[in-house]
Amino acid sequence: MSQETEKYIDFIRSLSGLDISVYDNTFLEKTINSRKVDTSSKTDQEYLSYLTNVPEEPAELLRQLSNSYSEFFRNPLTFSYLEQIILPQLIEKKKIRNENEIRIWSAACASGQEAYSLAIVCDELIGNNNTKINCRIFATDNNPNELMDAQKGVYYSTALGKVTLKRIQTYFTLKGETYTINPQLRDKIDFSVFDLLSDQASCPPASVYGNFDLVFCSNLLFYYKPEYRDSILGKIGNSLAKGAYIITGETEREILMGKNYREVFVHSAIFQKR
Ligand SMILES: C[S@@+](CC[C@H](N)C(=O)[O-])C[C@H]1O[C@@H](n2cnc3c(N)ncnc32)[C@H](O)[C@@H]1O
Repeated sequence: MSQETEKYIDFIRSLSGLDISVYDNTFLEKTINSRKVDTSSKTDQEYLSYLTNVPEEPAELLRQLSNSYSEFFRNPLTFSYLEQIILPQLIEKKKIRNENEIRIWSAACASGQEAYSLAIVCDELIGNNNTKINCRIFATDNNPNELMDAQKGVYYSTALGKVTLKRIQTYFTLKGETYTINPQLRDKIDFSVFDLLSDQASCPPASVYGNFDLVFCSNLLFYYKPEYRDSILGKIGNSLAKGAYIITGETEREILMGKNYREVFVHSAIFQKR
């Protein structure tokens, strides 16, 4: 890490108490460089002075470091495996064991798109399966603003590009230019703030004991340095039930390869703990 990057880390720590050294070096430096360009700062000294003197800039830098882009059914291949293989198998397993709950955690849910996509698939499968099994979905993020948006469940059409017309008609209500998730679906999800890097709890307190059948940890790991990725994976690993699944983003598969996980389908980004 360069001396300049360390200066930014020290500055943000002294200003806000936040530790941005947890971010992957390349990502951190790329984000700082992009802010330098956007603020027409020619040197690090100029940008540091901009950060110090323009009150909105530290928040803008932090906002860009905490990317919260998401969309419904973001990785269609993953959702297709879930819908056609993983969830039907889980339903059968629960029936055989006389258990009535599938436990799912969307561990960095941003403004809810991933959790609602899961809720839609579960609702359809359970409706078609004539079963008493319930899908309990816990959705967490460390950003309270994202969670507030998630709970509102209001989206522009750009987030719905991969949602079929039938699903839009069934699960959303169009009001003006936005689509609102139907309250029956929203009420099936338990939203709460949870920091995957905090030492306080190993799983969302609302879930009480974890024991998840499926955890989505998608498009978050690659922003962090390897030791923090390991810490997040350790936490999630401890919250998984035996034989449970963890799902990452498409470009994060490599992070789990060679670790204590087995990719269930080639290139699927769906892993099972060994
Ligand atoms: C790029 S979004 C991914 C959203 C969704 N999982 C997806 O794949 O579309 C990353 C999210 O991770 C959240 N996040 C980052 N660090 C986190 C942490 N330490 N604990 C919990 N959430 C975190 C961010 O607030 C953001 O909403």
